[in-house]
Amino acid sequence: MATRRLILLGAPGAGKGTQAQLLMQDLGLPQVSTGDILRAAVKEGTPLGLEAQSYMNRGALVPDAVVIGLIEDRLARPDAGGGWILDGFPRTPAQAEALDGLLTNLDQSLEAVVLIDVPEAQLIERLTGRRTCPLCKRIFHVRFNPPPAAPPFCTDHADCPSELVQRPDDTLEVVSKRLNVYRESTEPLIRYYQQQQKLTSVDGDRSPEVVYSELRELLG
Ligand code: AP5
Repeated sequence: MATRRLILLGAPGAGKGTQAQLLMQDLGLPQVSTGDILRAAVKEGTPLGLEAQSYMNRGALVPDAVVIGLIEDRLARPDAGGGWILDGFPRTPAQAEALDGLLTNLDQSLEAVVLIDVPEAQLIERLTGRRTCPLCKRIFHVRFNPPPAAPPFCTDHADCPSELVQRPDDTLEVVSKRLNVYRESTEPLIRYYQQQQKLTSVDGDRSPEVVYSELRELLG
């Protein structure tokens, strides 16, 4: 049986969202992306969004207590009962420990953590060229995965064409900050999950299709 509770770990731009969307379609599991949840709150102008925006726009992490609370709510929802794909969470040792405690309370277990490994120069090119659909959240790249229609419009759903947008944190300056934050705060999780014997890694410096096919094989 395929793995149903997993974390996609990796630097900004490693392809976590791209692979999570493919897995979601294939396995029917919800993609739980803290970045997407926070961006939706920013767009709606909720108190959470207003707090999160200042951290996100400068490439810093939103405080642990805030994102841990979001995940507690999200994993308690009925559609998460049969499994989930965590994308962008956990990102600090405190978040990883909180997740362990939460799963114990829910009587669930984490089955796999997959590190998507990509060299830094490639990450910068991916992030600065990324474009996303504000409606369906589909992810494109001006060079590696261009949208089918020109000028750049998404054509993935009935409400389209909607014009693709660039995330405010995908400028070169903010990307450099995010990569530093990843090295300092998130890379320690590699060791954390190695010690739990849950970590496997895939070479993410190949086409999304090739990465996906290896990921599917790993997950059974
Ligand atoms: P978040 O949205 O989680 O961003 P991230 O982790 O930095 O990851 P990205 O979404 O940038 O990249 P990705 O790995 O998903 O790559 P993608 O598939 O899009 O977080 C944003 C912010 O929110 C954080 O900075 C923080 O402020 C806050 N936040 C979120 N979670 C938090 C948490 N837990 N704690 C605290 N704060 C939190 O691909 C990137 C590009 O590359 C795309 O253009 C894509 O088309 C292209 N691409 C993908 N795969 C390939 C491939 N194999 N070959 C070529 N191109 C590819």
